[in-house]
Amino acid sequence: MIGKICGTGSYIPSLVWDNEKLAQLVETDDEWIRERTGIARRHLIDGEETTSYMAAQAAGEALKDAGVRPEEVDLIVVATMSSQNIMPCTACEVQNVIGAVNAACFDLNAACTGFLFALNTAQAYLGQGIYKTAVVIGTESLSNMVNWEDRSTCILFGDGAGAVVLKASEDGRYSQVTYSDGSKGDVLTCSSRNQKKFEDEPRDGSTYMQMDGGEVFKFAVSKVPEAVRELLDQEQMTTEEIAYYILHQANVRIVRSVAKRLGEKAEKFPTNMEEYGNTSSASIPILLDELNKKKTFQSGDFIVLSGFGGGLTYGASLIRW
Ligand code: COA
Repeated sequence: MIGKICGTGSYIPSLVWDNEKLAQLVETDDEWIRERTGIARRHLIDGEETTSYMAAQAAGEALKDAGVRPEEVDLIVVATMSSQNIMPCTACEVQNVIGAVNAACFDLNAACTGFLFALNTAQAYLGQGIYKTAVVIGTESLSNMVNWEDRSTCILFGDGAGAVVLKASEDGRYSQVTYSDGSKGDVLTCSSRNQKKFEDEPRDGSTYMQMDGGEVFKFAVSKVPEAVRELLDQEQMTTEEIAYYILHQANVRIVRSVAKRLGEKAEKFPTNMEEYGNTSSASIPILLDELNKKKTFQSGDFIVLSGFGGGLTYGASLIRW
């Protein structure tokens, strides 16, 4: 028994900050950001939008896509590092909004790899026959954690949410590899969330997102291909059998480098960071939803999902569409 994805959804906040807008805040320019990252714009929460608001919208859309009623949901797992409240958890807030009255709900945090860990967790519940229907969500308001005076980080991140509905099924495939390396924790840190809205004056820069960009880059381009190869070896599959690789959308140069290291064509690695920037745990489900809506996937396609991020954490999962 595995959890088969039978619906996807996403929520993208409407406030858009393009690279020109950032050039008014820090010493940077559109050409540098596009060339080094592939990012042109990012969407940020505004007004009533919060981490749980976006998550609930994405979940509602995914349930509609799956044709599943909220009462049928047994489990909601939310991956996030930017919930607006410590308690209740975002998953419980989502439950309340969408009316999933029968669901058990909890959050987990594995930074940008969070969606993969949440998917693994839901798969374990479904695989054991404990639950039949699960909603897995990645949702982030990174705009509350980024120092908008630090050009080395603020150009990279954006807000958004993505969700999938899983139904227990005999027909399907799921396998994964995930790893963590706590000894590299200092490479990507944030000691406080919900610090101040981005339009306010930052207080103490040290409590915002801090990153050694070069180290993260090196980590991603070596560990992602390693995880994908291990996953395929484990499943006795070759790269030729994979229709698409849905990678965490951090930097287009990372995606291209992973494709090259795997000896694969860039066309098998769709990207959307140009529009949204790095939305951390939301990036993989947002891209999945975008491609699902475009009917990119054929039934039976093998797809590899792969992510990396704070912790440091990384992993890869194989799904069959
Ligand atoms: N605009 C203009 N110039 C900038 C800049 C910006 N936003 N940020 C840095 N620079 C400057 C640097 O000061 C440096 O100048 P110098 O050569 O005079 O010292 C120069 O550009 C090159 O900086 P460098 O840090 O070497 O650039 P890079 O090519 O490594 O790109 C990142 C920086 C952050 C884009 C890249 O390292 C990266 O994407 N890393 C991964 C980060 C990531 O994905 N994090 C999230 C993981 S989940």
